[in-house]
Amino acid sequence: MRSLILLGSTGSIGRQTLDLLRAEPGRHRVVGLAAGKSFDLLARQVEEFRPAFVALADPEAAEILAKKLPPSTKLFSGRDALEAIAVEADYDVAVHGVVGAAGLIPSVRVLERGRTLALANKESLVMAGAKLVALAAERGGEIVPVDSEHSAILQCLRGERVDRVRRVILTASGGPFRASTPEEIRRATPEMALRHPNWSMGPRITVGSATLMNKALEVIELHHLFGLDRERIDVVIHPQSVVHSMVEFVDGSVIAQMGPPDMRGPIHYALHHPDRAPSGLRGFSLESFQKLTFEAPDPGRFPALELGYRCVEEGSDSGSVLNAADEVAVAAFLNLEIALHDIPSVNRRVLDRRPGLDRTVEDLLEADRVARAFAREEVRSLAAGGSRS
Ligand SMILES: NC(=O)c1ccc[n+]([C@@H]2O[C@H](COP(=O)([O-])OP(=O)(O)OC[C@H]3O[C@@H](n4cnc5c(N)ncnc54)[C@H](OP(=O)(O)O)[C@@H]3O)[C@@H](O)[C@H]2O)c1
Repeated sequence: MRSLILLGSTGSIGRQTLDLLRAEPGRHRVVGLAAGKSFDLLARQVEEFRPAFVALADPEAAEILAKKLPPSTKLFSGRDALEAIAVEADYDVAVHGVVGAAGLIPSVRVLERGRTLALANKESLVMAGAKLVALAAERGGEIVPVDSEHSAILQCLRGERVDRVRRVILTASGGPFRASTPEEIRRATPEMALRHPNWSMGPRITVGSATLMNKALEVIELHHLFGLDRERIDVVIHPQSVVHSMVEFVDGSVIAQMGPPDMRGPIHYALHHPDRAPSGLRGFSLESFQKLTFEAPDPGRFPALELGYRCVEEGSDSGSVLNAADEVAVAAFLNLEIALHDIPSVNRRVLDRRPGLDRTVEDLLEADRVARAFAREEVRSLAAGGSRS
């Protein structure tokens, strides 16, 4: 039986991971659960899975949680709580479903211990991909992607050589505005942007799917995970989200990984990798595989996508800066301060001013802080009526 910690247990990835563990009793032992502030749900999860360690980042929420825990449970709270659980608990695999830059240091700690990191928190790779990949190689750990596209590429590349890859084709659903006019996108409300046609996910990634900024982050993630430069990364819009991604090899052969749009598929794969363990998840059905369509993304409608390629070219702290700017811009959009189409322009303008801090992980975190301040300036200027293109 493998033991695991689950970071972000109360979120969309976290809850789906626990669904799988419930359906496969006896295969994994939960030794740690961690979240941001949802003490109620976390308390219920603790009651069910009985982990030895629990972490909650919000100190006030942690105080309430403390009263609900069995005395044998060790609780970490505050900003460093997730880092502490990654360092102190004993586990084989850390499933990491925290959203945002807060996930970076826990990723570093897991890999420093040479453990397996089943990583949904793409922000870790976007911010510090080169450092995390080097750390995994140095300490004998492994990064197993949970993002469905990257899980697909990992599966397509089993037994293959990366130097025999002509290109990787990442699929994108196109989100709720795939067929909208630029004018309709200008009028998009948070409620409309949060209504994803195929996936039920947290708000940050759902808004990112509407602008294609999420795909831009995935281009950076792909570059680091598989060592691919921009010329070998393509994106196609595939509204059905059945083909999770494809690899085209130098001989013209194309291998795709497919399945119904259900994140439990890639989570299950990451939990058991490199094995293919049985599951009750659905596979092929005529109903969902009947019509598969592909189209090129329109750069005019989705200018965010190019920013991912730009970061692959520029390297340094560009990923950290882009991610930080986007976190601020998405929050400002959800708070009705800026429009949806302002998000990529805020991100681009912050990227233009990036500080170039990249020697250490601390430097990348400082670049994140600087970028957030720049992004807030941009948001204030837009909210005050400044025009941006
Ligand atoms: N959802 C998907 O289908 C999907 C697919 C592919 C990739 N991903 C990636 O997976 C990650 C999680 O996405 P999600 O959709 O699951 O997000 P989500 O539903 O918003 O859940 C986020 C989780 O992170 C926790 N969290 C937030 N801020 C935190 C902090 N400062 N410290 C500690 N914990 C914190 C939340 O805890 P509280 O609830 O207590 O605030 C929650 O458990 C993202 O990087 C996303 O891009 C998600």
